[in-house]
Amino acid sequence: MIKQQLDRFNRLELLGGATALEKLERLSAWLGRDIYVKRDDTTPLAMGGNKLRKLEYLAADALAQGADTLVTAGAIQSNHVRQTAALAAKLGLGCVALLENPTGTEDPNYLANGNRLLLELFDAKVELVENLDNVDAQLDALADRLRSNGKKPYLVPIGGSNALGALGYVRAGLELAGQIEDSGIKFSTVVLASGSAGTHSGLALALSEVLPDLQVIGVTVSRTDEAQRPKVQGLAERTAELLGVPVPDAFKVILWDEYFAPRYGEPSAGTLAAIKLVASQEGLLLDPVYTGKAMAGLLDGIGRQRFEDGPIIFLHTGGAPALFAYDSSF
Ligand SMILES: Cc1ncc(COP(=O)(O)O)c(C=O)c1O
Repeated sequence: MIKQQLDRFNRLELLGGATALEKLERLSAWLGRDIYVKRDDTTPLAMGGNKLRKLEYLAADALAQGADTLVTAGAIQSNHVRQTAALAAKLGLGCVALLENPTGTEDPNYLANGNRLLLELFDAKVELVENLDNVDAQLDALADRLRSNGKKPYLVPIGGSNALGALGYVRAGLELAGQIEDSGIKFSTVVLASGSAGTHSGLALALSEVLPDLQVIGVTVSRTDEAQRPKVQGLAERTAELLGVPVPDAFKVILWDEYFAPRYGEPSAGTLAAIKLVASQEGLLLDPVYTGKAMAGLLDGIGRQRFEDGPIIFLHTGGAPALFAYDSSF
C-alpha cells in the first residue's frame, strides 16, 4: 500500500539506482557476528550521504514552486547543508544557510575545513548565528528578507526532516526490503543514527509494513530517548498522513540513547574507537558526529548481547567529510 501511494509524489531522480547492501567480512569475522552495511554514504553527489534521498522530494517541490534559492540551516559542519548546497549548484539555484557552532569550538579545522570548505566551493551564502533555538522563525525571517530582495526562496527544514523529505527514507526502506528479500538472509535488525529523525521515521515506517519482524534501532546523536521519541513518532505519523496510509501496527520506535554523550557534535572515546575499528578492518570511513556514534552503539550492543539473533544491517548515512574538521586522535 505504501509503495503505490509513494509513486504519486514528484521526485527528482538523483540517486541513479539502489545503494549497495554488502557484508563487512573482516569486521563480521572479528565480532563473530554477521554485519552488513547499506551504503547510503555512496549516494552520487558531493561525497554522498543520506540527505540526497530527502532532497529528491524536497528539491522537486522547490522546482515545482518556481523557487530560485534553497534556504536551510544546520551546524557549521552540517552534512545536510553541504548536500543541499551541492544540489542547489547542480540545479542552478542559489543556496543560503544559517549555521551555528554547536560546541563553541574555535578549532580552525572545525570553522573552515571539511563540510564548511565545501560550502565555499558550491558558492553557498552562509550566515553565522548564535544558535538555532528558534530555527523555524529564523528561517522564516531569512526567507522574508530574500523575498524583499526579489528572490523566491524554498525552505528546506533542518536535516531535510519534514514529511515530504522523510519520503526519501520511505523509499529507501522499500529498496532495502527488496535487497533483503533477494538475499534470502533472515536479518534481525537495522541500526542507524537518529538525529533530526527523517531517516529513522521514514525507514521504520516502510519496513514496518513490508518486513514487520525486522527491528529498526535508532542510536541517538543528540538527545535522550525521552526527547527523541516524540520526534520520530510524530514525523512517522505526519509522513503516513501525507502518504494517506495508516501507521502500520508493527511500527515501533526503538532508541538507544547511551552513545551520544558528551553531546551533539562531540565524539566520545567510544565514537573514535568505532571509527578506527571500521576503518582499519574494512577501509570504510564513518564520521565523528553520526555514524561513529551509531557504530559505537552497534559494537557495544553486540558485546552486551542486546540484539536478537541474526545478521545485522548498519545503515551508513555518510558524513566522512567531517573527519577533516575534527582534531581527533585515533
Ligand atoms: C551522516 C549523517 N548521518 C545521520 C544523520 C541523521 O539523519 P536524520 O537527521 O534524518 O535523523 C545525519 C543528519 O544530518 C547525517 O549527516
